[in-house]
Amino acid sequence: MDKIIVLDFGSQYSHLICRRIREANVYCELLPYNTPAKVIQELNPKGIIFSGGPASVYDKNAPKPDSSIFEMGKPILGICYGHQVMVSSFGGQVKRANSREYGRAELAIDDKSDLFSNLASQKIKCWMSHGDAAEKIPRGFSVLAHTDNSASAAIGNKEKRLYGIQFHPEVVHTENGTQILKNFAQRISGAKAEWDMKSFIDMTIADIRKQVGNEKVLAAVSGGIDSTTVAALMHRAIGDNLRCVFINHGLLRQDEEKDVVKLFKDHLGIELIYVDATERFLGKLKGVADPEAKRKIIGEEFAHVFTDVVTEKGPFHWLAQGTLYPDVIESGVSKGPAAVIKTHHNVGGLPKWLKLKVIEPLSSLYKDEVRKVAKLLDVPDELLKRHPFPGPGLAVRIIGEVTSEKIRMTKQASKIVEDELKAAGWYDKVWQAYAAVGDDRAVGVLGDERVYGHIAIIRVVESVDAMTADWSRLPAELLEKISNRITNEVDGVTWVTYAISSKPPATIEPQ
Ligand code: XMP
Repeated sequence: MDKIIVLDFGSQYSHLICRRIREANVYCELLPYNTPAKVIQELNPKGIIFSGGPASVYDKNAPKPDSSIFEMGKPILGICYGHQVMVSSFGGQVKRANSREYGRAELAIDDKSDLFSNLASQKIKCWMSHGDAAEKIPRGFSVLAHTDNSASAAIGNKEKRLYGIQFHPEVVHTENGTQILKNFAQRISGAKAEWDMKSFIDMTIADIRKQVGNEKVLAAVSGGIDSTTVAALMHRAIGDNLRCVFINHGLLRQDEEKDVVKLFKDHLGIELIYVDATERFLGKLKGVADPEAKRKIIGEEFAHVFTDVVTEKGPFHWLAQGTLYPDVIESGVSKGPAAVIKTHHNVGGLPKWLKLKVIEPLSSLYKDEVRKVAKLLDVPDELLKRHPFPGPGLAVRIIGEVTSEKIRMTKQASKIVEDELKAAGWYDKVWQAYAAVGDDRAVGVLGDERVYGHIAIIRVVESVDAMTADWSRLPAELLEKISNRITNEVDGVTWVTYAISSKPPATIEPQ
């Protein structure tokens, strides 16, 4: 399949370039800036994009691409820092600008052919974020567009198919940005628009068959979208050589275990090994109140239960995992020094001694692409729209020690929150919604009786990627209804509060 490669020079937007090219139906991969030309040659991309980055080309340690890339005769588009790399590599001059240009600017297009063809108008709003600028453009290049501050905001050498743009076409603030990237990918590089989820499914099924052959594959499923999609895809590829295991740790949402079993058996036609390990997990969690300790225990217990399944139902040769592209990029391309706030546990973190080969059929996809694949594989809408749920389940939602009473109250109260949000048309508008209980208690009157019950905390947040989140401004009437239902229907709860902390400084789950 035709592809474009983006070399990552460290911009926070590198990821987005890749996304936009894929939106233009061309397959695109992000690689580190210093990927050797030989490796790139083997991948045989139709075109190469240099991303932006925080450095200045004249810095001592400025990141530079392998210079042999320029001899490959491939079309190249440099963006921001990538543009300056192009300018300095081809004998032009970059200079530290007197004033940083940051934010919106108006781009006047001087040449409407190739890179800027099919745009809505001759002047577009574009997004700038740079300190350096091209002072002298290299020989053989001409100016394609300018802004008030940059005489050469876009340059090109059409004969050699080399282009540089000072602005960021990948951000939404740049009008027609996707069209510009599409022009580079399709018109200039000649990449065919072949990337869609239907072709992804066909290609991946063929790859899985080739890779796995007649060997047996085990997939751990949680009922979430990633693991369900992996299972559905693997099942299409290898049929009964796939076995799926679902471990119920007793910390699921109300009726979730029944729903997952039903989804697999009735809807997807996939047999499930169902393991009820509630007692094992709750036994290990007894007396443990510390959030990280709870996460660690659950991670370890998962590995133990899983090992038991492998021993009893095996042998298996492969483990199928729902790793997505952002996870791959995070560990391979731009390793950020982000502090560990919470140790996220997922079913994927399994012990090495299992000696299973790992297969990750979704590892080239973004989340919304997975959703499209899931839909094509007949995964029901209800699951696609279900809010995310943490691997350690209610253990990180319940504050303090996990007890069966707190689990019961959390499940019932959360079900009420979900149902009421659905009835009011709010469920699909928010990222996550639940109620949790901790150890705080407050006095209430039920009938004529004094009751010293628990406080249920309602948490409803809006978010795009869970990295930041804002509390939802739900209508007071809706909150009132939820509160009334919880105190009336959930035994042991006397008070209901609404969490109005955003992330940061709070997190989405309390533990
Ligand atoms: P926090 O609480 O860190 O959560 O703001 C961000 C998002 O991640 C989910 N979450 C988890 N998911 N394993 C998971 O698979 C975990 O250990 C875990 N902890 C939190 C949380 O529900 C939210 O969507």
